[in-house]
Amino acid sequence: MTKSILLLGSNGQVGQEIQQILSPHHQLIALARPSIDLTRPENLRQIIREIQPQIIINAAAYTAVDKAETEPELATTVNATAPQIIAEESQKLGSFLIHLSTDYVFDGEQSHPYQETDTTNPINIYGKTKLAGEIAIGQTHPHHIILRTAWVYGTFGKSNFVKTMLRLGKERQEIRVVADQIGTPTWTQDIAHVIAQIIPQLTPAIAGIYHYTNSGVISWYDFAVAIWEESQHLNFPLTIKNIVPITTAEYPTLARRPAYSVLACGKISQFLGTYPPHWRQRLRLMLKDLLLNS
Ligand SMILES: NC(=O)c1ccc[n+]([C@@H]2O[C@H](COP(=O)([O-])OP(=O)(O)OC[C@H]3O[C@@H](n4cnc5c(N)ncnc54)[C@H](OP(=O)(O)O)[C@@H]3O)[C@@H](O)[C@H]2O)c1
Repeated sequence: MTKSILLLGSNGQVGQEIQQILSPHHQLIALARPSIDLTRPENLRQIIREIQPQIIINAAAYTAVDKAETEPELATTVNATAPQIIAEESQKLGSFLIHLSTDYVFDGEQSHPYQETDTTNPINIYGKTKLAGEIAIGQTHPHHIILRTAWVYGTFGKSNFVKTMLRLGKERQEIRVVADQIGTPTWTQDIAHVIAQIIPQLTPAIAGIYHYTNSGVISWYDFAVAIWEESQHLNFPLTIKNIVPITTAEYPTLARRPAYSVLACGKISQFLGTYPPHWRQRLRLMLKDLLLNS
């Protein structure tokens, strides 16, 4: 059944995918900056009150993980204060809120996949602000779905790991990639499809936190090698000859990253009655989409 949906952050890599997938089936109002600015609470409140959607999807976020270390106030405003305001307005309207979150709410010390109920302990500012957003929503509005995902890439991304590897692969002979951070790459299209599948089933009984990524477990190094191999199969012109595995210590960044970022997706799989597709198959599809249609 068609729903009236307000999508915030429609210019992001996930936001654009959601827009494409939902707009043929729903009455979708998709907003991005400058029409909507998550640093301006009154603007946010006014827009939600005017539109009065049945469902709000928040795909907007401060996602610059390293920059967040030097801009904690801005990251907090966008990732924690704004979700609180969205949740307050959603609660007043009686609408359902779907919010995206991240594997970075965990510290990565575990060696088996994180369940929704596992203890959170973010190790960087971005993760802390995203967790604060989750908590604010949880305390404000019971009718929410918080969808935690990880290692997101898609055709629409201004910059993501796949696009960076393709760019470097055309410029360099050798790339050094971290091999001791483990996780699961996730295609934006799959995230958007999962949201599309959840929408017709939204009831207070299913509210809560869900993990969703593609299936499989790899390092960033493995991912880079796979991008290289798959793009070679598609005859993408690459100069790269060698991908070198390095340690996190050899690639210092402003923000610390969790060493182990694998999310257990059993809860959502059981709810939807289907397991997430394997990351390698999705990478192949995304690259075909990106390289053959561009
Ligand atoms: N990327 C990942 O690897 C990853 C991993 C796990 C979870 N997630 C989560 O997935 C969700 C979607 O992320 P994404 O990968 O699609 O990120 P993205 O491509 O960076 O998109 C985020 C969007 O938020 C918008 N935004 C930022 N500040 C704003 C503000 N003050 N007002 C209005 N809009 C603002 C940006 O607008 P502009 O286009 O104008 O800059 C951008 O379009 C986020 O909740 C993120 O935390 C992402």
